[in-house]
Amino acid sequence: MAGMTDTAFRRLVKRHGGCGLVVTEMVSSEGLVRGIDRTLEYAEYTEEERPISIQIFGGDPEKMAAAAQIVEGMGADIVDVNMGCPVPKIAKHNAGCSLMREPAHAASVISAMTKAVSIPVTAKMRAGWNDDDRNAPTLARMVEDAGAAAVAVHGRTAAQSYTGFADWVLVARLADDLTIPVFGSGDCIEPEQIVDRMRAGVEGVLVGRGVLRNPWILSQAADLIDGRTPRVVTQEDRGRFLLEYIDLLMQERSDEARVMTHDKWVINKLRALGSWYTKGLENGSHLRTAINSASSLLELRETITAFFLAPQPAPVR
Ligand SMILES: Cc1cc2nc3c(=O)[nH]c(=O)nc-3n(C[C@H](O)[C@H](O)[C@H](O)COP(=O)(O)O)c2cc1C
Repeated sequence: MAGMTDTAFRRLVKRHGGCGLVVTEMVSSEGLVRGIDRTLEYAEYTEEERPISIQIFGGDPEKMAAAAQIVEGMGADIVDVNMGCPVPKIAKHNAGCSLMREPAHAASVISAMTKAVSIPVTAKMRAGWNDDDRNAPTLARMVEDAGAAAVAVHGRTAAQSYTGFADWVLVARLADDLTIPVFGSGDCIEPEQIVDRMRAGVEGVLVGRGVLRNPWILSQAADLIDGRTPRVVTQEDRGRFLLEYIDLLMQERSDEARVMTHDKWVINKLRALGSWYTKGLENGSHLRTAINSASSLLELRETITAFFLAPQPAPVR
């Protein structure tokens, strides 16, 4: 997830278990081909994240093929194409979900990439561009024919953005129709929902926002699948996760840290995660405000420690 699932975050989630595959934030094919530092940074990963899929976006078949070769050269296990991003900045460049509006062109992107690399090429799409054009079943079949090794479908249209619900009936239909593996995505916030969605006949479930709220959701789902009670996550666990995330980010290099201090970059990262991580927590909005107003790493660490690891005892009446 763009802006969220950096290598540090992915490593921490993976360490908790239950995660079969991680995907990078989407990376610009243009930036990869031009060798832009910040783009290359988004594609960075560590060995402990394997198997790793690097997701790229773009609309030009030749550039996407060249970018796929760069991704292969970086040692990725899979190269994934973003056909789902509805953000105008991406979609207007004939990339992201606008590829769904031109299925033949989208298939030609996959075809150019599969010819250029020997690692699997996969595609991530939405249900369609809008309600009048829910063409994921057609496009998925076309990308399969073009050589894609798997597809993932977020069951909302681009027009829906994140409103309404993901259409898992459509996801299940695709899983039934295609020969290649189909992964489903959308609205798994509780581990039970992941287990339930696995029954749609998909090869796997991609969990987005649920992991940002609860990085243990995948290991809890794995517990359920194995017939165990899902592990209990304590306040202390939640606090330690954020502190470890800070420590890992401090060890990263960041091109963005050129325009701000490294500390400020880490604080911004924690603010971004904090907006999801605090959802549904008791007093979560207070924590979110406190994280957003922390002006130094020391203050940020103290805020997290006070909230999760050293909660004040309830007043005696
Ligand atoms: C902040 C954010 C960033 C995202 N970035 C990407 C991305 O870079 N590539 C992608 O394929 N999907 C991206 N998505 C979509 C998710 O992968 C997922 O398909 C969608 O959020 C629905 O699943 P969920 O309900 O489990 O979050 C992003 C979603 C969010 C909320």
